Amino acid sequence: MVSRVIPVEPFDLVIFGATGDLARRKILPGLYRRFCDGQMPAEACIIGAARSEQDSAAWQAQVIEAIETFVPAAKRDATSLNAFCARLAYVAVDAQGERGWADLAARMRADRVQAFYFSVAPSLFGALAERLHHFNIARQDARIVVEKPFGRDLETARALNATLAAHFHETQIYRIDHYLGKETVQNLMAVRFGNTLFEPLWNAQYVDHVQITVAEEVGVGGRGAYYDTSGAMRDMVQNHLMQLLCLTAMEPPARFDPDAVRDEKLKVIRALDPVAPAQIVRGQYQAGVQPAYLVDVENPVSRTESFIAMKLHIANWRWSGTPFYLRTGKRMKARKSEIVIHFKKPPHSIFDADAGGRANVLSIRLQPDEGIDLRVTIKEPGPGGMRLIDVPLDMSFAEALGPEAADVPDAYERLIMDVIRGNQTLFMRGDEVEAAWGWTDPIIAAWEAKGDRPLPYAPGSTGPEEAAIMLHRDGRRWREI
Ligand code: BG6
Repeated sequence: MVSRVIPVEPFDLVIFGATGDLARRKILPGLYRRFCDGQMPAEACIIGAARSEQDSAAWQAQVIEAIETFVPAAKRDATSLNAFCARLAYVAVDAQGERGWADLAARMRADRVQAFYFSVAPSLFGALAERLHHFNIARQDARIVVEKPFGRDLETARALNATLAAHFHETQIYRIDHYLGKETVQNLMAVRFGNTLFEPLWNAQYVDHVQITVAEEVGVGGRGAYYDTSGAMRDMVQNHLMQLLCLTAMEPPARFDPDAVRDEKLKVIRALDPVAPAQIVRGQYQAGVQPAYLVDVENPVSRTESFIAMKLHIANWRWSGTPFYLRTGKRMKARKSEIVIHFKKPPHSIFDADAGGRANVLSIRLQPDEGIDLRVTIKEPGPGGMRLIDVPLDMSFAEALGPEAADVPDAYERLIMDVIRGNQTLFMRGDEVEAAWGWTDPIIAAWEAKGDRPLPYAPGSTGPEEAAIMLHRDGRRWREI
């Protein structure tokens, strides 16, 4: 296989919230793996910044512990761990005060790419942006990285955008949606726009419907307090599923460059029809081997949904009349995320009515076992006459491309390196985020006005029965999870 290593410029990366959960679980292990892959130039420096008073040695010890916890033993060794730690420095800063900023300024070097990762609560984004400006730390070409949740509705998202825009230009702002960093999500673009085969069929004339599923086995566990104020709509649909929908449905961009791609995604969100309540099923998981949602979030009267299934229409020439069914939930039967294109049956069958045969189905699997599978109709082998069966043309990336392909970089690793490269293609633009909230807000407002409880579903299931009924009414079925 061709080497995946694309070198980056020397950089100073400052991680605000360096002692927090995301830094520990994702950002630092990801950076270590990039370091081991030879992608971090010798002059690169990672500066941890957080409120706690401690020195660099103490933070390095925490980072080692995090890497030992989150990077498999086969992928790490003491020598590289020590060499990685030599790149790490720590500065105690007060996000809203004076402490530490002069120290941070002194550590930043003029001839390096500058990136600031705001791995903190969104309420601190404004303060950090202002402090970086006030202490003259961030240069004109510095990059800032911000995490979801990016607002909880259109109004708060607009306010956040305005806060950041007060000190940074849009070309400097990298809003992360880690789903865009997943290998198969990018492969969706390669499949659509790198082949002649699919794009001519990628429209309402040939596609019967599309299903996008992101099913999780885990519950809301230790994140109950956050999740209960969010729910599946804000936590997953407004961002991750919306991004998958956009990449599936968008027009071919003129170039694979940030604004060309993001312009096309934005057009999809703007073309979404409002969704009627009958086209949405909200669910909440009950008790099973694990406690119920209400116990997990410690709120016995919660009406927050841990499952959503919905039917969407995109009102444009390409998709008019083709429904997109979206579904996501916690504590479901299995962890499985996929985008499935169900093509129409051939317009006329030349075979006997009882010959069999099904419409083609293309599935793009995000996780687990990333890959692409196309079901095609063939003749059943043997002398039994013309009987049709459908067989998979299945390409598991791991099988087709060798073991290295199974070791795809984590979404965060890839996205952080894109920040250093200055490539915004896989990051959300401010207007995209606002458009997604603009579409989501009326749906949530209607639920809140009605005050209905979500429908119960058994943990380990595929969600409430009503989600299946919604498709049955249309003469369709969900794919197996
Ligand atoms: C996060 C959500 O953004 O994505 C979580 O806040 C969810 O609730 C997670 O579990 C899913 O990500 P992945 O990469 O595990 O599919």
